[in-house]
This record gives sequence, C-alpha cells and structure tokens, in this order.
Amino acid sequence: MDFPQLQAKIVHVNNVFHNLAADVDLNDPSYIFSLCFIAFNPIFWNIVARAEYNTHFLTKLFGSARRGCYFLAFTIFSLGIARDFVYERALAAQPTSQLLLSYPLLTNYVSVALFAYGNILVLSSMYALGVTGTYLGDYFGILMDHRVSGFPFNISDNPMYQGSTLCFLGTGLWYGKPAGIFASLLVHYMYNIALWFEEPFTGKIYAEKAAKDEKEAAKSETEAKNE
Ligand SMILES: *[C@@H]1O[C@H](CO)[C@@H](O)[C@H](O)[C@H]1NC(C)=O
Repeated sequence: MDFPQLQAKIVHVNNVFHNLAADVDLNDPSYIFSLCFIAFNPIFWNIVARAEYNTHFLTKLFGSARRGCYFLAFTIFSLGIARDFVYERALAAQPTSQLLLSYPLLTNYVSVALFAYGNILVLSSMYALGVTGTYLGDYFGILMDHRVSGFPFNISDNPMYQGSTLCFLGTGLWYGKPAGIFASLLVHYMYNIALWFEEPFTGKIYAEKAAKDEKEAAKSETEAKNE
C-alpha cells in the first residue's frame, strides 16, 4: 500500500468514526446512567470480593463461605440483569445510524451471531466453573481442584468477559445504534481493568494453595516413613 492509499484509508476510517460518533447522544441521562452502571459492576464485585478475602465479612454474615459466595453470586447476577435492562432502555432512546442500517448484513446477521456466540461463551463457562467458580469463590477460600481447560477455555482466556462484551456489541448492532458500539468498548475496557486486578490475585491465591498442598504432602510422607 503506497502513501496516498494509506492516507485515503485513514481518512475513510476517520469519516466512519465521526459519522458513528455523531449518532451518540451523550446528553441523554439514561445513556450516561447505563455507562456508569457498566463501569460500576466490576468495581463493585472486586471491592466486595477483596473485602471478603481480608475480613470474611460475608462468610461471617451468612454462616459459611459457600452461603456467602451464593449471596454474592446472586447480587452480581441481579446487578448484571439490571444493567442489561438499563442498557437496552438507554439504547432505545439513542439515535439510529443510517450508516449502520445501510449494512443489513451487519445489523441483521452479524449482530445475532455475535450475541449468540457471546451467550455460548458466557453460559458454557458458567456451566464449566459452577456457581462458586464463576462468582469469585476463590476469594472465599473455595478453590477449584484443578484448572478448567476444556471448552470454552480452550478458545478464550476469559469467556465470561469476552462473551459479555460480544453480547453488548451484538445488541448495539442489532438496533443499529452506535451508542451500543461505544458502550461495548467501555465494557471491554472495564473488564480489562478488572482482569488487571483479578488475575494476579487469583494467581496468588492458587500459589498459596499449591504451597500448602506441597507442605501437607511432605508432612504426610514423613509421617508415613516414621510409622
Ligand atoms: C475445544 O474443546 C471442544 C470440546 O472439548 C472441542 O470440540 C473443540 O474442538 C476444542 N477447540 C479447540 C480450538 O481446541
């Protein structure tokens, strides 16, 4: 690609971006609220989960780690439903893009495919991990016996987050709303920020478990020898 061609491409992408951005109404409070809601959820569950890890306040409140985790799971799940509801309502009030509508393949089919694929990732990962594996059980000391590596974890590092992001994008495209595309970008970045906190923490928790298991194995070995 020579320079004028590249320049033309950049101008084209820039035009598309501006065309889409012109159809995002940032003055609508319900859209701003939905963006805040999107940002709030991962912040909320990271703060609560860390507080649980440090103080065990949910375990104490509910009498057991498992019940505490189920309560958090129910809360996060409900917040997710509420956020999706707020998002859809906000999208309905946003301008529809003539540019997006001029690509019916995108709005009618790609959108549905993204939404379906996103849901497959989310639901299959919930199925593979179970309730406590999905909803931060490790912060309660409820650890998985071994790393889940089967589907969907063999095609995606973070199927919950990637799937959820694709569902937002699919919904936005389906309605032909650029506001949905921009909200999906926010979802994507919020989940990346969440992972930035969660991944090292989970790594630490499992490293502690591995060290403890090793110690116990060594101990039972010496005990066996002494007998
Ligand atoms: C992932 O695992 C599923 C089921 O175990 C399998 O059917 C699929 O081919 C795997 N995909 C990849 C890319 O390994």
